[in-house]
Formats: sequence, C-alpha cells, structure tokens
Amino acid sequence: MSRAVAAPDSLPEGAPRIGVFDSGVGGLSVLRELHAQLPGARLLYIADAGHAPYGERTDAHVIERSERITNALAAQGCRLVVVACNTATAAAAHVLRARYPDIPLVGVEPAVKPAVRASASGRIGVMATTGTLRSEKFQRLLQVHGGSAHIISQPCPGLARLIEQGDLHSPELLALIESFCAPLREERVDTVVLGCTHYPFVRSAIQAALGPQVELLDTAPAIARQALRLVPEAATAPSAGGEALSPRVELQTTGDLAHLRRLAAAWLDFPCTVSAAAPELC
Ligand code: DGL
Repeated sequence: MSRAVAAPDSLPEGAPRIGVFDSGVGGLSVLRELHAQLPGARLLYIADAGHAPYGERTDAHVIERSERITNALAAQGCRLVVVACNTATAAAAHVLRARYPDIPLVGVEPAVKPAVRASASGRIGVMATTGTLRSEKFQRLLQVHGGSAHIISQPCPGLARLIEQGDLHSPELLALIESFCAPLREERVDTVVLGCTHYPFVRSAIQAALGPQVELLDTAPAIARQALRLVPEAATAPSAGGEALSPRVELQTTGDLAHLRRLAAAWLDFPCTVSAAAPELC
C-alpha cells in the first residue's frame, strides 16, 4: 500500500469531495488507499452498519440502501461516488448509474482478471460474500476474464459480520477463516482474490491459513487509481488561500457511533471526524 504522500488533515472547502460507502467498516480498506493516492480530495465515508451485512441480504435490500446512500452523498456535494463494496457493486451499480447519470461511479469487483494474469498454475480462489458470488455480474466476470483458469469460488458467510465486530484475533474469527481457506488449500490454488472489502483487515490471518506461497489480491489500490483518473486535480492538495477549511476525512454511520470511532482509530493511520448519518438514512 502506498503511503508516500503526506497530506494535511483539512482542505479548503472548494476541494473536490468524494463519497465512499460500504455496509460498514470494510470500505475503510478502500478509503485508506483513496487517502494515500488523492491528497487533494475531501473524503466522505458512509458506513451503513445499521443495515449490514449486505452479503447475506436480498438484492432489493442492497439496491434500496445503495440508492439512499448515494442520494445522501450527492446531497452533501460529492462529485464522485466510490461503492467500496463488492456486494453493492454487484447488486446495485447498474441501478445507481441509471439513476444518477451525472455522478461518476467507481465500483469494486473481485480481481479475477489480475488473478488470471498473476497465477502461474491457473488455480485461483475467490473469497467473497454469498451475494457477490451469486450475482450475474460475477458470473459475467468469470466468463469474460476467467479464460481457462480453474477458479474456485469460496463464499464466506459470516466473515464480514465478525470483522465488523472489530476483534480481528478472536478464536471464532480465526476458526471461520480456517474453514474457508481449507478447501482452497486442498485445491492447491496459488492466487486468492480478496473479493470483499472487509477481508484486507484479516489479510495476515488469511495468508497464514493459506500459506506464504499463495498470492493475495486486493483491488483497493486500483480503485483509488481509477478515482484519481476521474478527479485528476485531487493528485495534489490545494493551498488554502483565504478559503475556509474542512476536515479532509469525514465518517458517518447508520450504526453505533462509538464503535466506528474505535475501529477508525485502530485501523486508520490518519485523523477523521465521526458523526451520525442523517436520520432519514438510519
Ligand atoms: N464489504 C462488503 C463487500 O465488499 C460487504 C460485506 C457485507 O456486508 O456482507 O462485499
């Protein structure tokens, strides 16, 4: 992960504002890349923890939540929305693009194409939510980019929910990771796609369960590069001039405020404000 660019904790109010959302804290793995690569952007993140997890809900639920949150981000002046959630991208990206044609959208999907390129043996695992793996979008991704690779889709029900609870070393969480990695080990995969934005937070446990020879792929750096292509002026932090300053990173949640504050302090290496999302979202 790149940490090269130092940027201030606040930016002029006129700096471009980028909206980011996920079912909870998973998208913070994308937010930290956006923070590293776009020092000139103000980042507004909505954690929909009050309505999580998305991966075990119906498409209708995920679409409804994604529309309401995109609407809230647009209302707060975001000119780009990053759907930092594989499940929401699979279920709702097409609906959001049709409904908000003026707001560019960057979605996240499992890194099947890079995995096919990276794998020497052509044996690849994809760890993701049940919702992502059952989606038409994922099936199309396999058809278009899977080539002749042997791809094993491993649903991980319950994993995002446990990560969301914040104890990344609990025996229950480690046992669940082992139960999802064992079949991939048996299949002798050499590359595994982290197809849910929560999973980078347990990357080292997944690596330990799969073995050091397995390469893990996370799309967050590529997502941030795509956001930068769409908002190129965010490559550098503007000077304040006489303009009022705003916090550079703001988090809002539909769930428990103290919990998000605690996880953000533990998992992010930059400051941010944390507040409740608008009541109509909760
Ligand atoms: N972090 C999300 C993803 O990338 C969703 C996890 C969930 O809410 O089930 O799919």
